[in-house]
Amino acid sequence: MPCSSIALSCNLSKQIMCGIVGYIGKHKAVSILLEGLKRLEYRGYDSAGVAILQQGKLLVAKKAGRVEVLAHETAKHAFTGTLGIGHTRWATHGGVTDANAHPHISSDGKFALIHNGVIENYSQMKTFLTQKGYTFKSETDTEVLSNLVAYHYAKESSGDTSERFLEGVRKALQHVEGTYGIAVLCIDCPEEMIAARKASPLLLGVGDGEYIIASDASALVSRTQNVVYLKDGEIVHLTAKAFSITTLDQTEVTPIVDTITWSVSDAELGTYSHFMEKEIFEQPVALENSMRGRFSEDGSTAVFGGLNLTASELRQINRFMFCACGTAWHACLVTEHLIERFARLPVEVDYASEFRYRNAPLDPNALFFVLSQSGETIDTLAAMREAKRKGYRVLAINNVVGSTIARESDGGIYQHVGPEIGVASTKAFTSQLLVGAMVALYVARLKDMSFADGTEYVKALKGVPDLVRQVLKQAPAIKEIAKRFAKANDFLFLGRLSLFPIALEGALKLKEISYIHAEGYPAAEMKHGPIALISEKCPSVFFAPQGEIFNKIVSSMQEIKARKGPIIVITTEGTEFPEGLVDAKITIPQCHEAVVPIIASIPVQLLSYYIAVERGCDVDKPRNLAKSVTVE
Ligand code: F6R
Repeated sequence: MPCSSIALSCNLSKQIMCGIVGYIGKHKAVSILLEGLKRLEYRGYDSAGVAILQQGKLLVAKKAGRVEVLAHETAKHAFTGTLGIGHTRWATHGGVTDANAHPHISSDGKFALIHNGVIENYSQMKTFLTQKGYTFKSETDTEVLSNLVAYHYAKESSGDTSERFLEGVRKALQHVEGTYGIAVLCIDCPEEMIAARKASPLLLGVGDGEYIIASDASALVSRTQNVVYLKDGEIVHLTAKAFSITTLDQTEVTPIVDTITWSVSDAELGTYSHFMEKEIFEQPVALENSMRGRFSEDGSTAVFGGLNLTASELRQINRFMFCACGTAWHACLVTEHLIERFARLPVEVDYASEFRYRNAPLDPNALFFVLSQSGETIDTLAAMREAKRKGYRVLAINNVVGSTIARESDGGIYQHVGPEIGVASTKAFTSQLLVGAMVALYVARLKDMSFADGTEYVKALKGVPDLVRQVLKQAPAIKEIAKRFAKANDFLFLGRLSLFPIALEGALKLKEISYIHAEGYPAAEMKHGPIALISEKCPSVFFAPQGEIFNKIVSSMQEIKARKGPIIVITTEGTEFPEGLVDAKITIPQCHEAVVPIIASIPVQLLSYYIAVERGCDVDKPRNLAKSVTVE
């Protein structure tokens, strides 16, 4: 029986974007699970729980709140077992309560289960199980699944407990519609754990006499860098000494053990106050890593090892389609601008969540790209599957090696920026911009871009890390500007051409971490509506670098100033503005058109970060958000 006296409530609670960790080995499981959960907290932080299988009993502790709260709870119990599972939750609806936290125990007390995903047919299964005498303490879909496993286990008549455990899980999962990453313990198998996945990430860490299951490498990298990326429909059955993988239809799988290329220090704060701050300041190195080995020997174009497309195949492409969500969608918009500008090919950009349902007519010669830092965003994955189903070749620009999107794509480009832990994307975004700029260059050079222009473009890309360093040096000044404007409740971000998406990104960054209402617009659109918001209380952040339309942007600034709106301008070094027009100025170095969006992103990242800190917000774990959106 569970050792906690938790009254499970009757709230329906779907779990999305949760973190899962499981341990089997020779060490005390609870501390390893808590460490893993701490590292997974950026995936969800409403509530957390663990179940330890020890001396034939399932001991459970689960609490609403952060992992710290759970740690206090576990400290009250003698959790000494070396086998356990843990979960950190992010709920969409249903209360954030102790009861709704995972693990969930089957009503016969035999199984403990943690789950990331949504069981869509849980209601029919619940009716069925109720008729069979199973009872429920909550209305969570996960509790239904734990009882379904118990039901199939009880029904299995052949084999020993270990075989029945596996078959019980397998048969239960065969009836599930929806998505899951699960780990299960069974009281009759005190030295075993089973985990499985469908459309929710799950990795197996292969350690020294121990295994760790996790939804994310950050939870296991402190113990091992050897991992098996589980695929959809696979079930792993573990003891402390061995593991085997089979599919839902009982086919044996030969595991491939990969090595994670980053280490635990990459996922630690070091001297920084927040992961977001760390990741902003890491950008020069991260961007160098994104470019490494990706330029031709003659220095006039980009080269990519993983596109799986020949130059002549690429030359047949007459249109590009880009799909993504959130910040990554903004990166698509910049890439659209650069491909159209430099390669003179049409590009269409769509929200992945819209594309998957709108059945858009596509050009048969289009090349499809998806962008996703995590490689697990369910809408992006679904858009990709839809495009593949229609026969398109889909390439992925993605950061997490071995992610579902990376594996299911026909090829692609890894960003190589290391783990991004801060919920607000920063280094992954600028790296997406950089990779997008390289794709534009590559395609342009296959078309009409000259050797000289290609060489100049490559030089500009190679100079990006140093330019970013220069802008980062202004951090103290940007912090002061942030302090001056931190009390505003509304912000506008205004930019044009390739900086319009950066205006959108600036607004998103500010609103997600500081909860200030912010909107991004093309600067000239401002007078078609948003100008009504302008007052001395609503600052506007203008992107006004030197260039063809600089004077037009200055005119928009005048219109704002005429209505007493404060102006923060991001402009090229050495630019002067009419007396009294700007209230704060941040400069960026003069640079090539293809890299301006990258460089102009840095000040807005810093501005948003410092404003959020000034307002006392929890920057790395903003309310209502989680890092990777793994259900619809
Ligand atoms: C915002 C942010 C999100 C993500 C979006 C897509 O700072 O990080 O908008 O960009 O959820 O995530 P990925 O890139 O993992 O597909």
